[in-house]
Amino acid sequence: MRFFRRLPFQTKLIVSLILVIVLTTVLGYLLIHTAINRAFSDFAKHSMGNQDQVFRQMLVEYYARTGSWDGLDRLFLRNRDLLPFVVADANGIIVSAPQFHLVGHKLSRSDLAAGLPIVVGGETVGTLLSRRALKLRDPIEKHFLGTVTVSLWISAVIVSLIGILLSIFLFRQLTGPLKRLNAAAGDIARGDLSSRVKVHSQDELGHLAESFNEMAASLQKSEQAKRRMIADVSHELRTPISVVRTGLEAMRDGLLEATPANIAALHDKILLTTRLVGDLQQLALADAGRLSIHKEALDLNELVERIRATIGVELEDREVALHVDLPVDLPRVNADRQRIEQVLLNLLANAMRYTTSGGTISIAAKSVDENMVQVSIRDSGTGLSKQDLEHVFDRFYRADAARTRETDGSTGAGLGLAIAKALVEAHGGRIWAENVPTGGACFHFTLSTV
Ligand SMILES: Nc1ncnc2c1ncn2[C@@H]1O[C@H](COP(=O)(O)OP(=O)(O)O)[C@@H](O)[C@H]1O
Ligand SMILES: [Mg+2]
Repeated sequence: MRFFRRLPFQTKLIVSLILVIVLTTVLGYLLIHTAINRAFSDFAKHSMGNQDQVFRQMLVEYYARTGSWDGLDRLFLRNRDLLPFVVADANGIIVSAPQFHLVGHKLSRSDLAAGLPIVVGGETVGTLLSRRALKLRDPIEKHFLGTVTVSLWISAVIVSLIGILLSIFLFRQLTGPLKRLNAAAGDIARGDLSSRVKVHSQDELGHLAESFNEMAASLQKSEQAKRRMIADVSHELRTPISVVRTGLEAMRDGLLEATPANIAALHDKILLTTRLVGDLQQLALADAGRLSIHKEALDLNELVERIRATIGVELEDREVALHVDLPVDLPRVNADRQRIEQVLLNLLANAMRYTTSGGTISIAAKSVDENMVQVSIRDSGTGLSKQDLEHVFDRFYRADAARTRETDGSTGAGLGLAIAKALVEAHGGRIWAENVPTGGACFHFTLSTV
């Protein structure tokens, strides 16, 4: 069994099928062989004809008279060869036969079945058998049975061979997809994530191959995302760090004066990288599901008023109007005050960036149903292109990659919306973007009520 377990799957299948084939052919052979023998014995029984009835009657009388078979054989001593019958006693032991050496042999049950029972006083005291029934067959019969046996053997061997060849062919067909799956799995394990299986059958193996390909594709996608992320992060960090480095080196070498203004400029870059690293850390925490959210009954009216006060000066500078449209009886939401403030600030920072002077930004909120509030931030800016709509929430996505970084509280690295999305989703809410018909973009997110 242990040896069998170590065999390749295909070999196991083939070995099992060969066993089945050989067993069924041998069994078939045995069945046919016994059937032929049985038919022959029946034939022999019938061919005993009338003669045996007479002889049986004689035997019945003999037994009835003597009470045993003792002495019966002696009656035939002289002309034993002429005796067409064999007589066995109640135990199946031959008491008289055409050949002397047969006397005393025990007959098998099947041999006895082919004979005529000798009944005396309601009791079977012996059996009368023809020569044929005992396979004391004549040469022609022997020859016939021999031929039948040989052809039976030959057909059994041919049938087995055909079965075995057919099963090897079939199993090759069946196990082909498995081999391909195995090869593809090996590729993936070695790091070739582009490997796929070509299996088109509609059966379980086909479904397995399909799932395998899906798994490989998602692995490849996340691997690519990881690579892109690392590339983006290093790219975003390199610029401010090299600015700071060059500035410091210039000061060290006396090329740049260490004035408070120059130092402040470098300090700004440091702040930028710090924020970027903070943003990345926040996203990493959100990915791991470890973003701490301290929920409280949050009054959105109050939060929005506070934010309006914070950004009021900047709005005025830009000559952008802010409309706030929150019902006074808006239910409180179950949310983390700081996190939601960050979501709103990220959305407002974008809105302000894309709204030119004379434009309007509006903050609105409404109850969608008993346990959900929807907040919307709308601007009258450029709006979102079709590609933007698909990707704005992706990490490091910026519609205009060459845009100059601004000090609007965001790093400008394309992480603002990704973070807003992570924060809203950590609250169990949903965030999405759309264009407004009158021009401009609108961002909505939902929060559950207390
Ligand atoms: N209100 C808006 N109007 C037009 N485009 C926007 C708006 N908000 C976001 N976007 C687009 O989505 C991109 C991603 O925004 P965000 O994730 O906040 O990154 P960042 O602000 O650093 O560019 C922006 O670069 C911009 O192309
Ligand atoms: Mg932004």
